Amino acid sequence: MNEKIKTIINDATAVVSLVKSLRELNDARVKFLGRNGEITNLLKLLKDVPNEEKPTMGKRLNDVRVSIETMLKEAEDKLSLIEAKERVKGETLDVTLSKKGGKAYPQGALNPLTLIKNEITDIFTGLGFSVLEGPEIEFEHYNFTALNIPKDHPSRDSSDTFYINDKLLLRTQTSATQVHTLEKGELPIRIISPGKTYRPDDDATHSPMFQQIEGLVVDEHITLADLQGLLLEFAKSFFSKDTKIRFRPSHFPFTEPSVEVDLSCPACGGTACRICKNTGWLELLGAGVVNPAVLEYSGIDSKKYTGIAFGMGVERASMVKYGIPDMRLLFENDIRILKQFK
Ligand code: PHE
Repeated sequence: MNEKIKTIINDATAVVSLVKSLRELNDARVKFLGRNGEITNLLKLLKDVPNEEKPTMGKRLNDVRVSIETMLKEAEDKLSLIEAKERVKGETLDVTLSKKGGKAYPQGALNPLTLIKNEITDIFTGLGFSVLEGPEIEFEHYNFTALNIPKDHPSRDSSDTFYINDKLLLRTQTSATQVHTLEKGELPIRIISPGKTYRPDDDATHSPMFQQIEGLVVDEHITLADLQGLLLEFAKSFFSKDTKIRFRPSHFPFTEPSVEVDLSCPACGGTACRICKNTGWLELLGAGVVNPAVLEYSGIDSKKYTGIAFGMGVERASMVKYGIPDMRLLFENDIRILKQFK
């Protein structure tokens, strides 16, 4: 037995000193300490040892086991460190690589129209509005008739509207979404509706496809003063806190009274410059108090409920905010232009 123990210690010392990887180390652990390992086998022989020697022999075997375990543990620590260092060496990142000739990948940028649409939407959702989108292909009913636009109104002419057939058209205004919302009859209403709109115009300030954001509030006791407060709040958040607005009388068949809303020129602060053509004001949007006829047409009691509505052009808002002179720049998607608005 004593001989066997000596051999095992010598063997283990030799094997462990030659081990080169954690994998080999594990094999060594199995060989000496495993279920069929050499130490375990010796422990099995303990039952044949005379009784009086058993305690001493047992203790000896246990000491041997502990010292082999210690040997294995020390080797393991050493090997782990070496293997970790090797791994880090293999993973080293050459941060100078792209300068030496690697390619830089160009990054895209959001179109200013998308940025502005998101910004306007955020301002109104912050004021408690929900966002609701309507269809771009509309029935005449939603785009014109239910908005109190008479049959002979010039905007219905085929020179002002893209018709698909005698009932369907490409919507000319997001005001069509007002009717969808009113018809649902869930009151009070407080929505904005961004989306694409279409008209047969094409020059530096008009595009056949453009975007609008419609706003609609319907509740009891809503007045023109609410419209004023709401749009002033919007103008201050969107431009700057010194921004002023003014209402000019206008006409839309679906609002009564109707107003054009101007904004104090963000370029000169209202003192007059080239951008505002020396007037100090820039036109921003159309708005008004919802015509009771429109509410009644969709089945809403206009004695109990009143409403306000506004519709603004996203291109126009972008041009005013960023000082973009030609609307076509917004549609060309030239990355050199887009990058300026990040
Ligand atoms: N729809 C109108 C336009 O396209 C704008 C507007 C919306 C006016 C809502 C009043 C109320 O010019």
